[in-house]
Amino acid sequence: MTYSPRDWGSHPPLIHPDYKSTVLRGATRPLVPIRQSLSELTGPVFGHDALNEFDNDLTKNGRKDGEPLGERIVVSGRVVDEAGRPQPDMLVEVWQANAAGRYVHKVDQHDAPLDPNFFGGGRCVTDETGSYRFLTVKPGAYPWPNHENAWRPNHIHFSLFGPSIATRLVTQMYFPGDPLLELDPIFLGTPETARERLISTFDLGLTEAGFALGYRFDIVLRGRDETPMETNA
Ligand SMILES: [Fe+2]
Repeated sequence: MTYSPRDWGSHPPLIHPDYKSTVLRGATRPLVPIRQSLSELTGPVFGHDALNEFDNDLTKNGRKDGEPLGERIVVSGRVVDEAGRPQPDMLVEVWQANAAGRYVHKVDQHDAPLDPNFFGGGRCVTDETGSYRFLTVKPGAYPWPNHENAWRPNHIHFSLFGPSIATRLVTQMYFPGDPLLELDPIFLGTPETARERLISTFDLGLTEAGFALGYRFDIVLRGRDETPMETNA
């Protein structure tokens, strides 16, 4: 078997001048497809054994002396392949800013507080229905130097490994109703018809009463309905 090539109708171009750094790093010559061989088609495979108890709970996995600050949220969804089949045993990794809009990273010098109880990274493996689930806090918006007064919308970064390296997908999940979306060159770099696939939906069914709101974000690894991915990741 082989996987369908990337559908460029769903993905941002390699160079999108409004997103300035793509001009420096985007490929300027046509990509050369590499034939998929066994090593790309059969691995990697991740097992549930590799996970620790709080890997998918970002409100707990970075605690030092208390709870992280912010609005608790559940983020959950299903991972399916190009034919809509659920994908079990997929490694789903996330990373995000804290509630104040700051990453735990030395390059991030945004003048907003770090949270000593929030690390901002997590992972889980999908179950037999292709479902994943994270508990976290809603990430804050943060400024970035792309242009004058530029702010990234609230977002969570996702990396997925499908059944093979050929199905790896790196993308960002956004939140419904965010006024910064229509100003964000990264979000706007995705073809208009595919942008909606990057916005999670509020889901009362995922909400935990008295504790956390719920957002659903389903992910399609390949094909016509493919979740747009970051082309430079
Ligand atoms: Fe980010």
